[in-house]
Amino acid sequence: MRIGQPTNSERYGSNLFYSVQKVYELDGGLEVDKEFSSPFHVIRQMPMSALSEIEKNMAIIIPIKDERLRLLEGVLCGIPNACFPIILSNSQRSPSDRFVMECSLLDNFCHAAKKKYVIFHQRSPELAQMFRAGGYEHLLDDEGLVRNGKAEGMISGILIAKLLGKKYVGFIDSDNYFPGAVLEYVRLFSSGFAQAKTDYSMVRVQWNSKPKVVDNDLFFARFGRVSRITNQFLNQWLGLLSGFETDILLTGNAGEHAMSMDLAMLMDYSAGFSVETHHFVNLLENFGGALPAPFPEVMSHGVEVFQIQSRNPHLHDFSKGDDHLAEMIEGSLSVIYHSEICPQSLKNHILEELRQHKILKKKEIPAKPRLYPSLKGMDFRAAGKKADWNKHGNFEGTL
Ligand code: GDP
Ligand code: CO
Repeated sequence: MRIGQPTNSERYGSNLFYSVQKVYELDGGLEVDKEFSSPFHVIRQMPMSALSEIEKNMAIIIPIKDERLRLLEGVLCGIPNACFPIILSNSQRSPSDRFVMECSLLDNFCHAAKKKYVIFHQRSPELAQMFRAGGYEHLLDDEGLVRNGKAEGMISGILIAKLLGKKYVGFIDSDNYFPGAVLEYVRLFSSGFAQAKTDYSMVRVQWNSKPKVVDNDLFFARFGRVSRITNQFLNQWLGLLSGFETDILLTGNAGEHAMSMDLAMLMDYSAGFSVETHHFVNLLENFGGALPAPFPEVMSHGVEVFQIQSRNPHLHDFSKGDDHLAEMIEGSLSVIYHSEICPQSLKNHILEELRQHKILKKKEIPAKPRLYPSLKGMDFRAAGKKADWNKHGNFEGTL
């Protein structure tokens, strides 16, 4: 990869947010190019050799719920061979068992590609048992199983990646039509981590565009309706906290994102559609300095958030419709609204916005999303003992 330097950055406490970086070349060469050694160079080169080293330590978590198998296969084929895929499925088991179909597709694919993988059903007793054994019951419902929802699938994936000893976790949706875009997202993740100066880093992808058909023609939309709103409020918030107006945050709803395991272990996660926006809430609260620092050791190291714009357009399955737009707007703004450090003026502004979209009635306030505390205190040894890996993947006997 050859990527433009961030032209700007904003600091809040120990958080360093970089402005969006642009990709110049998807393949930036195999080895270090000395041309790029000057710190004054405006483009950074991330040689393939460096990206490959990072990818060997990266798990890619793919949440899936009743997607077309052809799409899942495309996503798998876009993931670099060095990365370890972890599939968290919440697909239906009856009348037809879509999960069994996914398992068999994955097994055939990974057998052919000579690749290890893990797949779990989100509602499987084995997964719940791992959380229970590790002393983390927050994710479990009345039936004693992991709750439904994409965020819950993501958290389960993080636990598995941790047990597998991975240093990085990346998230890619399973309904992507372009395997080439998937490959690019992973390379953006590794390019972000290759630039990081601390162990606590996050990489968020800003889609180049989302193609739509408008008036019988292709139209490449830049921002989704939800992202536009989320980013506006995140920036307003960061501006109010720091005292300086900003427009640096452009990835408030980035489903395609990645974290170093060290950071993933410290984050609290919110349920539902607010999970990606909540990452920012959590960073501002935990590492901003306005509240007592829950992890003082991180304060001196710092947290870096990279935002990188992809070159491929993002085309996912939009046959699901726009039903959850209102839910997404409410979820994203609700986590900001309910933060302890959200100023009253911003709260008022959020209420106005939600009323204007007819999401809230007068006098109503946004529902508070469920919050899952960080996985840090889990007993991973006990959780790992409960895992019968051979039943859930392909390791040829070893991990
Ligand atoms: P959108 O892209 O934001 O409109 O949301 P999608 O409906 O495409 O969901 C994003 C990803 O999460 C897709 O890959 C879904 O298959 C997956 N997904 C949705 N709900 C669940 C769930 O309850 N559990 C898991 N594991 N995955 C889910
Ligand atoms: Co989607």
